[in-house]
Amino acid sequence: MTCSHNNGPQTNNRTPARSPSAEPLSWGEDDLLFTCASEGVYPSAVAAALRHSIDRSCHRPLEDDEFDALYRSTLARAATLLRVDPERLAFVNTATQGFLFLARSLPLGPADVIVVPDNEYPATIHPWAEATASGRGKLRLLATSAPWAAPDISTIEAAVSAPGVKVLCLSAVNWLGQRYPLQHIAKVCRRRNVLLAIDGSQAVGMIDISPVEIDLAFFCTTFFKWAFAPVGIGCAYFRHDLRGVLRPEMVSLESAGSVRPGDEPRLPAFPAPLVLAVPPPLCLAGLNAALSLVMDADPATTERRILKIAASANDEIMSAGYWTAPRTDRDRSGIVLFSVLTPPASGEVPKVIAACNEALRARLRLEGIHVDLKAGLLRASFHVAHRESDLKRLRFALRHARSSRVAPSRKVSLSRQGLSRGPSSAQQSKSGGGSLGRARA
Ligand SMILES: Cc1ncc(COP(=O)(O)O)c(C=O)c1O
Repeated sequence: MTCSHNNGPQTNNRTPARSPSAEPLSWGEDDLLFTCASEGVYPSAVAAALRHSIDRSCHRPLEDDEFDALYRSTLARAATLLRVDPERLAFVNTATQGFLFLARSLPLGPADVIVVPDNEYPATIHPWAEATASGRGKLRLLATSAPWAAPDISTIEAAVSAPGVKVLCLSAVNWLGQRYPLQHIAKVCRRRNVLLAIDGSQAVGMIDISPVEIDLAFFCTTFFKWAFAPVGIGCAYFRHDLRGVLRPEMVSLESAGSVRPGDEPRLPAFPAPLVLAVPPPLCLAGLNAALSLVMDADPATTERRILKIAASANDEIMSAGYWTAPRTDRDRSGIVLFSVLTPPASGEVPKVIAACNEALRARLRLEGIHVDLKAGLLRASFHVAHRESDLKRLRFALRHARSSRVAPSRKVSLSRQGLSRGPSSAQQSKSGGGSLGRARA
């Protein structure tokens, strides 16, 4: 659920953008949102742009030239953020849609292999499952030990070195917070002539990422999580050697030109813009305002701040007695995964643990603190607007829940199942946990 919060009247979406860091990520006075990995809140400048777009559409539709100007300026902003040529970018409605374009178009023989970690979000798995179900290539799911555990780089290297591998597809930051060393992975893929296709949905607005600088073959993202935009708009980037694989009959007629019956549809050659999906004006207006905020705040600074806040939050949560995903500084992101009870090192999270986590989530909600429950674990996302006082409030609520037994320490019944409470901070930092105030890369 998305709610806007208004920090006062705004005249229009050209009002000088306020840094998102100046805006509390909250529903109301007392609510604290740690949920932008699901769906971000609209900062007031974005809310104002959306309102303006709705008000206008109640009176008249956009003229073609107005729509074109909005479309082009929004695409140009997305291209500036990602440091790519705007002609290489195309809007999509969802990340899944972007991957479907790629998976349905890429020429794949029966022996071609597509590698995807098995704990990826469906947007990066399902399009390949569909393509390979019809005999175009084979999908190889890379086994991971637990939902939050990413394959390490040597496993990825071995997987892409196997015969027949054509594509490696994964998220820059996955839905449970794993941040991949993309530069390194891209180098491995280049050496093996494997196409690297990246989902940036949990990365754009959190980390400073450019598909060109990493030399990705394909990159696709939504903007509704860390980048403050409404649901329904994303973008896809095709490297120069990939654009030609798109099947013209699949892309928008805007791109293929006017096709009369009997005509062979043809894609316009670069640098003519590629149109995969035409987003509604409301989404364009919201994204336009959102990207202005993201860029005003400087993505590199935003990344540093988010990683620092999340590292502190990780320590706060651990010090309140909870398990957090054992991660190293290198692969942590703005997402902290935590649990009342320590999940087993491999396999799915047992139902009893998921139930305890669900109870804690409900309890936190009553106190106006919102986190997600994903794969049976609690997921908190930390953005630039979160302050030390927000982290303290979270820690206080977590400690209180622990002591009032909402987050139980039912050692007896749980130990029969080989489960235990979260490790001490000292134990956990040995396995990659962070410490307060540690400098972040
Ligand atoms: C890693 C990742 N990719 C993609 C998405 C969204 O995909 P789509 O835009 O297809 O709904 C999400 C979350 O919803 C996600 O966590």
